[in-house]
Amino acid sequence: MALLTQNPYKQRSFDLSGLTGISDHTLEIHFGLYAGYVKNTNTLNEQLVEMMGQGKAGSPAYAELTRRMGFEYNGMVLHEYYFGNMKPQAGGEVSSSSSLGRAIGESFGDIETWKKDFTAIGGMRGVGWTVMYLDPDTGRLSNHWITLHEDGNIAGFRPIIVMDVWEHAFLLDYKPAERPKYIESFLANLDVDTAEARFTGAADRPVG
Ligand SMILES: [Fe+2]
Repeated sequence: MALLTQNPYKQRSFDLSGLTGISDHTLEIHFGLYAGYVKNTNTLNEQLVEMMGQGKAGSPAYAELTRRMGFEYNGMVLHEYYFGNMKPQAGGEVSSSSSLGRAIGESFGDIETWKKDFTAIGGMRGVGWTVMYLDPDTGRLSNHWITLHEDGNIAGFRPIIVMDVWEHAFLLDYKPAERPKYIESFLANLDVDTAEARFTGAADRPVG
């Protein structure tokens, strides 16, 4: 829990209208789901502080709510990374001469191989996320599958490219079997400048 004297999290707004292959209607519904995670993260902290005040810390209910923190917090944070790394008319590919492009080359061989791996992980059966992380201590990049929001995130690693592959991210625009088309659209909308800024440490999660 976090003390209530800390400011609650605020919902961020993202201007993404006009993305390629991801409709404004999908985005509208998705922003609503994201807002739910911000609200639930704040509510969860309030409930835990209240229980602590009532001497219920350590009770089974307190434990179960505490277990839920990884789900709600990561649900909020990953959506902010996701919306934050897309932009309309992005049209850009990671350049092999950029610092991010060079690091991808060192970690995966080349950008095409990274993309193939990222796409394959995104197509895995199940509900979750695909994240390319930077290990800040070694400079190494690696792609990961996150089940739901919380199972598979690596402590201390920095998210560089974050893709939502829950079905709500694409089912209004594509059939369930068309996840690869959605992934293609995500990559077409990828804001490479933001990814580069995350990689160099010039920018991170947009916090409300
Ligand atoms: Fe989502």
